[in-house]
Amino acid sequence: MNTENLETILNTIDLRSEPPGTEPMRQYYFIKKAREFVKTEKERLGCDPVAVITTFGCQMNARDSEKLVGILEQIGYVEGTDEQTADFVIFNTCTIRENANLKVYGRLGRLNKVKRNNPQMLIGLCGCMMQEPEVVEKIKKSYRFVDFIFGTHNIFKFAELISTRFESGTRVIDIWQDTNEIVEDLPVERKFSFKSGVNIMFGCNNYCTYCIVPYVRGRERSRNPEDIVREIKELAADGVVEIMLLGQNVNSYGKDLEQPLSFARLLNEVEKIDGIRRIRFMTSHPKDLSDELIEVMKHSKKICRHLHLPVQSGSSRVLKKMNRQYTKESYLELAGKIKAAIPDMSLTTDIIVGFPGETEEDFQETMEVIKQVRYDSAFTFIYSKRTGTPAATMENEASEAEIKDRFDRLLKEVQVISAEMCSKYQGTIQEVLVESVNEHDETLVTGRMSNNLLVHFEGDFDLIGKLVDVELTVCKGFYYLGEKIERDS
Ligand code: 5AD
Ligand code: SF4
Repeated sequence: MNTENLETILNTIDLRSEPPGTEPMRQYYFIKKAREFVKTEKERLGCDPVAVITTFGCQMNARDSEKLVGILEQIGYVEGTDEQTADFVIFNTCTIRENANLKVYGRLGRLNKVKRNNPQMLIGLCGCMMQEPEVVEKIKKSYRFVDFIFGTHNIFKFAELISTRFESGTRVIDIWQDTNEIVEDLPVERKFSFKSGVNIMFGCNNYCTYCIVPYVRGRERSRNPEDIVREIKELAADGVVEIMLLGQNVNSYGKDLEQPLSFARLLNEVEKIDGIRRIRFMTSHPKDLSDELIEVMKHSKKICRHLHLPVQSGSSRVLKKMNRQYTKESYLELAGKIKAAIPDMSLTTDIIVGFPGETEEDFQETMEVIKQVRYDSAFTFIYSKRTGTPAATMENEASEAEIKDRFDRLLKEVQVISAEMCSKYQGTIQEVLVESVNEHDETLVTGRMSNNLLVHFEGDFDLIGKLVDVELTVCKGFYYLGEKIERDS
């Protein structure tokens, strides 16, 4: 939804009438209403009120935060970075592992002191952690200074919740257990001008036994392909060259649609959109990765040479207990098939160490898989017990020290392999999408290759958002230094 179109719609809305019952018109009504409240805030402050959003967790949350910023900017806030002086602070939370929750409580504790000095400050909590009833109870009891709590299913109601908070002056708590609703056409403010995430589906039906996501993000719901394509066309018209299609398991995209459409066929549609130069997606569950998808990736000119394929464990016994629906052998076969079809495909993964009942032998099988697949990189995690998941009641015989030792051995091996995989590109010329000026040296810019490796090279601000050819001169283990090559054309 572009700003001009939204203004045209807002001009037709009369705030003296009742709010509409259907979305997104209802939210447009509340955007207009919230503007009135924020205008009063602005008069009180003598300047535009500032909102600061902190995003924890994954790409889904990052995209949700862009939607929150979209609403905040529409109603009159400006985005800032300093929580100490902000008028509105929002934490978009994650609960995938226990330490994600601990971080939020730590940050909230500190914010309490800030709010004591500035009682008018608004504090909002949303995201996955808020879908856990015990968390909400704890916040209600021990963090009374929080003004808003909402979850993952009703984030589209943000303008309405803000209006309610201003109108009532009391805390607003609105958590939904689940939803089938997908609300289109709400404002979004992208963090990057040249790249964007695009939700293609929400939720997850896989119920891996360690994972809390299906409980906090609900059942799978796919967006209509027409809405996805329309959004991407609008992004392309607005200068976006790279998109990342987002879903907890993109390979099961479209199964729930009235007219089912496979993820591979969706990719074919997206490939046709002019202006989009790169297509990424996240995350692929190995059990659903089809031959059709491998074919589409192989022939695509736009799909990046990077596939994130979480293995979680190399032991078929543990995989069964995790409810992953594949074995060590079938995973290795799949990885082999992908590499045979697309030899330059970079493979990355997620691995959990210390799942309940994991023995040293199971762990050795994980080590074997990483040595065989030779991942370009891997995210490694120590198993974290999540209340309410089936694994939470499983016995774990391994001690914390044993698990930490396994984790260290795994990390070491992963790093050695990553460095070897990274060094393969030494001396080659690669197309790089420039993302930013280098944080530590402003004579350099930083970009990403199709396979997701980072490259730093001499250049300036003007290059941001451009695809340039770069010769990779120095391999630094998991990134490169390079030199820009002038193209002939
Ligand atoms: N403990 C540790 N890691 C987890 N993940 C998901 N749930 C847990 C958990 N309970 C990891 C998985 C997943 C990644 C996003 O987070 O590896 O792929
Ligand atoms: Fe969690 Fe498994 Fe769903 Fe991924 S596929 S979000 S690990 S339940």
